[in-house]
Amino acid sequence: MVSNGYILLAGGDAPRRQALRRVYSPRYGILEADDGRTALDLLTGEAPGLRGAFLGLDTPGLDGCGVLAGLARRGLARRLPVFILDSGAEPALLDRCWKLGAADILRDPEAEPARSRTETVLALSRRPPAPQGADSGEGSWPPAAATAAQAICAALEARDAESGGHVRRVGAAAGELLRTLAPLCPEYGLTDARIRLVSQAAALHDAGKLSTPDSILRKPGRLTREELALVRRHPLEGCRILESVPALRASSVYPYCYQICRWHHERWDGGGYPDGLRGDAIPIWAQAAALADVYDALVSPRVYHDPRPHGQAVDMILSGQCGAFGPRLSQALQDAAPRLESLYAGA
Ligand SMILES: [Fe+2]
Ligand SMILES: [Fe+2]
Repeated sequence: MVSNGYILLAGGDAPRRQALRRVYSPRYGILEADDGRTALDLLTGEAPGLRGAFLGLDTPGLDGCGVLAGLARRGLARRLPVFILDSGAEPALLDRCWKLGAADILRDPEAEPARSRTETVLALSRRPPAPQGADSGEGSWPPAAATAAQAICAALEARDAESGGHVRRVGAAAGELLRTLAPLCPEYGLTDARIRLVSQAAALHDAGKLSTPDSILRKPGRLTREELALVRRHPLEGCRILESVPALRASSVYPYCYQICRWHHERWDGGGYPDGLRGDAIPIWAQAAALADVYDALVSPRVYHDPRPHGQAVDMILSGQCGAFGPRLSQALQDAAPRLESLYAGA
């Protein structure tokens, strides 16, 4: 099912979304966005498995036309098919949608012949190419984006003294895992330059914790259900923070930052959050950051536990105690374990 990828549903009335879910869920994973801004984030974040979107013109926050315009402004129009759900809009508005790159405008998307037409377009839709320009040069970040990222990291470390250094260590550990994985899995296209870019992006994984209250971040005991729900918002909050920084938003490394921030708590078996992605629908750099995040939390002192020895941390991860990771990344962890330990010894 999920090997076919995902489709995004946003806006439109509830019965129509329900009908689309019924039609497409046997073959596609379904991502849903409650508002236009989230839909635009998902589309510009370029999830590897995302095949297309059905978009109402009435999405709250940013309407469907605004989402299309946002894609066009970023040079991303027509890279993924976006089907507009029409419920009788003015012809001028529909005309604008066509001009902005809508793949089709559908009155009755779950009925023939629209359904067959849509299926064909989705089947032909392929994973978008890697972020443009991100792999050129020496694998270094554009200076303005690097400065913005440093400021976010410094703010994160200042807020949470106990886990100071966590964000940078996660970046370094994710880089080590990806370097180990690269020769095992050439299909991921993990060049040295890309790994350097990604490792810096991984340091921004917890940007959303800037909006998590201190009382929760530093709470020594077990979190209540409400507190846990607030903590679990940090991947999405982080995406909003990244989006609001023009120097990052406009840079070629933004898709890496966005994907890692949004999906570093996803798990291989679909048991993570916020989107429940599974397998390689989770970008490999987000998978590596997720594993590095868990590893760092285990081997570092926390208010709620003493640091574990490195060997024990690796065993806990491999035995599934921290959620499921992919088999090849797990192999990379085993291979990289001695280098990870020395990385921490020198940290
Ligand atoms: Fe996190
Ligand atoms: Fe983290």
